[in-house]
Amino acid sequence: MVPDSWLVLSVSCRSALELEKCSGVMFDFGATAVEEINGDLITYFLPPDNLGNFLNLIRMDLNEGLEIEEMFLAYSWQRHEDWSHLWKRGFLPKKISKKLVVKPSWCATESQEDVVTVVIDPGMAFGTAEHPTTRGALRLVEKALSPGQKIMDVGCGSGILTIAAIRLGASHVLSLDSDPYAIEATSANLQRNGIVEKVNVQLEKASQSWLENNGEWEGIVANIQSDTLLPLIDGFKNALNKQGWLVLSGIMADEWTSILSRTEECKFNVRGMDAEKGWISAWFESDG
Ligand SMILES: C[S@@+](CC[C@H](N)C(=O)[O-])C[C@H]1O[C@@H](n2cnc3c(N)ncnc32)[C@H](O)[C@@H]1O
Repeated sequence: MVPDSWLVLSVSCRSALELEKCSGVMFDFGATAVEEINGDLITYFLPPDNLGNFLNLIRMDLNEGLEIEEMFLAYSWQRHEDWSHLWKRGFLPKKISKKLVVKPSWCATESQEDVVTVVIDPGMAFGTAEHPTTRGALRLVEKALSPGQKIMDVGCGSGILTIAAIRLGASHVLSLDSDPYAIEATSANLQRNGIVEKVNVQLEKASQSWLENNGEWEGIVANIQSDTLLPLIDGFKNALNKQGWLVLSGIMADEWTSILSRTEECKFNVRGMDAEKGWISAWFESDG
């Protein structure tokens, strides 16, 4: 289900920090792609049901988060064919760590020993390794995962973390997302990577009670905004086995203390952290 046209929003930003904060807000509102052109942040959205309301909500969040009273927000529409074309132009293979490369299907890369390649084509779901939260989660999953483990990817988006986990040796992944477009994108990307049979993809909004009834996993990864993560941490604990690991991403630096204290209350220990451009990802281990 591809829309005829995409809603394109542009926001003038005055600094790198503003750009970063703005892109966080846009992703929270469901942006599927962001790019920076001459200091303006350009973001693409599926057409909202009510454009006026949508723009007002975004404007309120931007004003609140960035404390700018006169935020210049502009919008336009872009035909889908043009959008896919633009994406192809800017989307190149990316080296995430010594071991992990993410690339679109139309780019060839040299095959190298010990390098794991994840093939992702940009669709309408979040997760092309363009965003620091995805890259942080990828690097920590690489560290946390042991071969043969069965894990859960909560908020799978494009399926990028699921595919990386299988490529890094996970034996099975349950991949959930509350957004039907994400389920469509994950399924397509699993096929591209030839790993359909190792993954169970489910349209599901994870809640504390759902997680409690759907354990026991050796690892869980979730790259979702902090206010969604916070009430789920207890559920993650219950869905993990005794020494299970949890990788959380999508946390802005000023949200870290509340995530840390909730994980401590739920008896998780921090095993590792990854910080990039004001975003924190963290690897926790369940303390029995
Ligand atoms: C920031 S994207 C992450 C996508 C991908 N995992 C990555 O790391 O790039 C967050 C995803 O979580 C999904 N999501 C948000 N809340 C959720 C919930 N309670 N249960 C399942 N999925 C959720 C959103 O639909 C979105 O696709």
